[in-house]
Amino acid sequence: MGGTHVDCALSWFVHGASPIESETFASPKACHRLDGIVVSDYGLNELRKVEIRGQSYFIKKYHRRGRGLRRYLGRSRARAEWENILLFQSLGIPTPRLVAYGEYGQSGVIVTAALPDVCDLQAYSQHELSSRFVESVIDRLSRYVRTLHHNGFVHNDLKWRNILAKPDGEQVYIIDSPLGRHVPRVLMARRIVKDLACLDKVAKYSLTRTQRLRFYLRYKDRDRLRSEDKQEIMRIQLFFKDRE
Ligand SMILES: Nc1ncnc2c1ncn2[C@@H]1O[C@H](COP(=O)(O)OP(=O)(O)O)[C@@H](O)[C@H]1O
Ligand SMILES: [Mg+2]
Repeated sequence: MGGTHVDCALSWFVHGASPIESETFASPKACHRLDGIVVSDYGLNELRKVEIRGQSYFIKKYHRRGRGLRRYLGRSRARAEWENILLFQSLGIPTPRLVAYGEYGQSGVIVTAALPDVCDLQAYSQHELSSRFVESVIDRLSRYVRTLHHNGFVHNDLKWRNILAKPDGEQVYIIDSPLGRHVPRVLMARRIVKDLACLDKVAKYSLTRTQRLRFYLRYKDRDRLRSEDKQEIMRIQLFFKDRE
């Protein structure tokens, strides 16, 4: 069912799960023609939700390859986002199914199948969170973030808005990682602190101290804190202090 299409596009890949999907998203032009609801439109990209025969899809269009020098050099944001989705899949980290993707000139497009019955953690945090939901999310998310970091990869935008979950907290997905990348070992410690600090931005208002500690211990895969952990927790708490 998969295929590559190249015309005005530099590269276009379709991983349609059905002939309808392959046909609907056969080219960037075909994607742009689809009517849908604009979910977000700011910065470098626009996100639209479309419905095709009862199934929803998200189409993200990047207007530019990146900011500054990245407009001309290196991997585009669109490419980084789809490569990272493929990486997450290969590491067993739940993320939406990739349907079609590609880039042409300065633009890039990524189509994912909408995950049914999910909401982002930021939205959940507007209401009271049950301890069962929190514990379930903590158990899964701590494992996924550990897997990424153990593989030398940092997400770089690990906001609660970029984590989706089902209402029972038993399925958790990480999305939206165009800034995520593998980082040289020497830079890893600081980037890890940044990812964890990003998660803690909302956690410090929405979770109890015990729940935050539980997340950290699960992430570290141990039962109690070591002295180097306490130093890392300090760095996490200070990371955004002067920037908020
Ligand atoms: N495949 C998907 N399934 C379900 N919801 C999605 C999917 N992709 C995006 N969303 C929803 O759209 C929001 C924005 O998507 P995201 O990829 O983070 O784009 P951006 O932050 O650049 O606007 C997410 O927080 C989520 O609520
Ligand atoms: Mg996002």
